[in-house]
Amino acid sequence: MITGAGGQVGSFLAAEATRQGRDVLALTSSQWDITDPALAEQVVHSGDVVVNCAAYTNVDGAESDQARAHAVNAAGPQYIAQACARAGARMVHISTDYVFDGDFGGAAPHPYEPSDETRPLSVYGQTKLSGEQAVLAALPQAVVVRTAWVYTGGDGKDFVAAMRRVAAGDQAIDMVDDQIGSPTYVGDLVGALLEVVDGRVHPPTGIAHAANGGEVSRFGQTRAVFEGVGADPERIRPVSSDHNPRPAARPAYSALSSRESAQAGLTPLPPWQDALARALEAASRP
Ligand SMILES: NC(=O)c1ccc[n+]([C@@H]2O[C@H](COP(=O)([O-])OP(=O)(O)OC[C@H]3O[C@@H](n4cnc5c(N)ncnc54)[C@H](OP(=O)(O)O)[C@@H]3O)[C@@H](O)[C@H]2O)c1
Repeated sequence: MITGAGGQVGSFLAAEATRQGRDVLALTSSQWDITDPALAEQVVHSGDVVVNCAAYTNVDGAESDQARAHAVNAAGPQYIAQACARAGARMVHISTDYVFDGDFGGAAPHPYEPSDETRPLSVYGQTKLSGEQAVLAALPQAVVVRTAWVYTGGDGKDFVAAMRRVAAGDQAIDMVDDQIGSPTYVGDLVGALLEVVDGRVHPPTGIAHAANGGEVSRFGQTRAVFEGVGADPERIRPVSSDHNPRPAARPAYSALSSRESAQAGLTPLPPWQDALARALEAASRP
């Protein structure tokens, strides 16, 4: 069962699971509003595996819409976990690198492991962390999969899709070079989620990290998109986050490590450069 099946991850997961011949029930927000506790009880049955792809993902919007962000990112996942616990179903829940603050107290940053301390900087990150904790409290055998900077590269609203459109024009753009993370191709994330669905991943903390390997700034990622589509990367100017303040603070560093998660059984995702090349290739096909 897939919640949030109209979203970026939910729709890719539903398509890939169906392509593999799995028994899929993919429900959009209008078919299963996860903030309705009674619905979770009706929908979840014994033996199901629920992958919760539903979330309030507007990081800036959450700063002024805390109640809604909390309802979707924390209360909703809790209702699903409670329903799974009662029905005897399993649950895979998706979370985010924005549970970390990127502050290493002056020491060199290192990619975050699931066991590292969380300290979200934003309402979005705080509500996602509350969701993780509520899910694992209600259903300790649930698996929380944290991912980061997810994109399809297609025609949607994600970062790589947007940068492809900018690259196709001729204007210069500013891009922050002081936010470093792990860009993750949705196709690779979906592969990781299906490994978890198949019961092959057993993280001791209940939390796994699934992001493409390596790390890069938004500036570096944008340069790679431009280079990948044959546009001039010199059109991109590096700027600091102070240049264009936004309502929600983002961590300066939030790359995710695959080391502990590999020990828990998850196949590490390929390097981000390889994933981007595949995404751009897929997007260029008619
Ligand atoms: N995108 C990223 O860069 C990123 C990074 C790290 C982690 N994640 C996590 O990955 C997961 C999937 O995100 P995504 O990128 O696929 O985001 P998305 O494209 O915004 O999809 C989220 C989906 O959740 C649905 N939804 C919202 N409220 C709902 C509700 N009350 N009940 C049921 N469905 C509801 C939305 O439906 P409507 O559009 O109809 O509201 C939308 O289809 C989330 O847990 C997110 O926190 C994403």
